[in-house]
Amino acid sequence: MRPTHRIIFDTDGAVFNDDAAALAMLVQRRDRVELLGVTVVAGNHRTPQAAEHMLHLLELTGTDDIPLYLGARNPLVNTAARAASQETQWGPISFKGAFDAPRDVVAPHSGRFATTRPRTTGAISFIIETIERYPDEVTLVAVGPMTNLALTFRARPDLAARVKRLVFMGGNARVPGNVTPAAEFNIWFDPEAARETLAAPIPETVMFGLDITNHAPLHKTAFDDIVAIDTPLTRLMQHDMAPRFRRDPAATYHVWDCITAAWLIDPSIVTSSEALPISVDTTFGPTYGETRVSDRTSREVRPITVMLDLDVERFYQIYAGLLTRPM
Ligand code: RIB
Ligand code: CA
Repeated sequence: MRPTHRIIFDTDGAVFNDDAAALAMLVQRRDRVELLGVTVVAGNHRTPQAAEHMLHLLELTGTDDIPLYLGARNPLVNTAARAASQETQWGPISFKGAFDAPRDVVAPHSGRFATTRPRTTGAISFIIETIERYPDEVTLVAVGPMTNLALTFRARPDLAARVKRLVFMGGNARVPGNVTPAAEFNIWFDPEAARETLAAPIPETVMFGLDITNHAPLHKTAFDDIVAIDTPLTRLMQHDMAPRFRRDPAATYHVWDCITAAWLIDPSIVTSSEALPISVDTTFGPTYGETRVSDRTSREVRPITVMLDLDVERFYQIYAGLLTRPM
């Protein structure tokens, strides 16, 4: 049977939680999800470092036949200097990702760089070629800032209508932000890209923002049950996440991108959603990067499906099952 989704996974990378964990979940269900390629963008990390983490994950899971492409190294407009100025004028930004990250690329957890390297084609060319090759069939899964997607549709506006759907983690419709009181990280890092991408005439757009992801924090008890099963993946999870639980057993992790991945595998995990017109604030001020429910639709602000709540128990069954499953 053909997999249900043909996916390009556009990511800002992570050691494990949450981009790498989300990719791990998807590669464990290649019967359901055909991963056409991984494209990397600056966000949590600088692009070359993010790529190393994701190549490591692909090698660890024996899925390094999936090609990886390097994408944008910087947002369209936002910069480290602007972020610093935003902080000075309007208050702290709790996480600045690549803007604060070292330039040197460090080896992933294994202590050695993956032998698979990024393809020589860039991410934007790959996305364009793939949509041309599979018109109306490609699901763009964006779990980082949307810079690569905005650049794709700047280069080829005609292709937005030939994507099957865009599923993204980012934004906050009716809850506060997580890096500023107003904004969520993926959108804040490159608001102009999010605005352009959400305005593109993609047939279907699905948003996994903080409204839904806030409902499913990972607690130590669930973490302990998962890492008790020893696999290369759970060892990586342990390396990345155990130190914080050791310091503070009451700590929780948000597993944002993993909820998006779980939905692609089993859409019944979402129990509440609404079609809402979402606009992105690109005015440089305290609400830079805020996503808002607009009171009217326009050519720029189209209604998208905003996921709002989920069956947390079912989600954790899928999450734990896939992360502990033999590879
Ligand atoms: O705000 C959460 C999002 O920002 C997640 O995608 C996380 O990986 C970071 O990119
Ligand atoms: Ca991410």
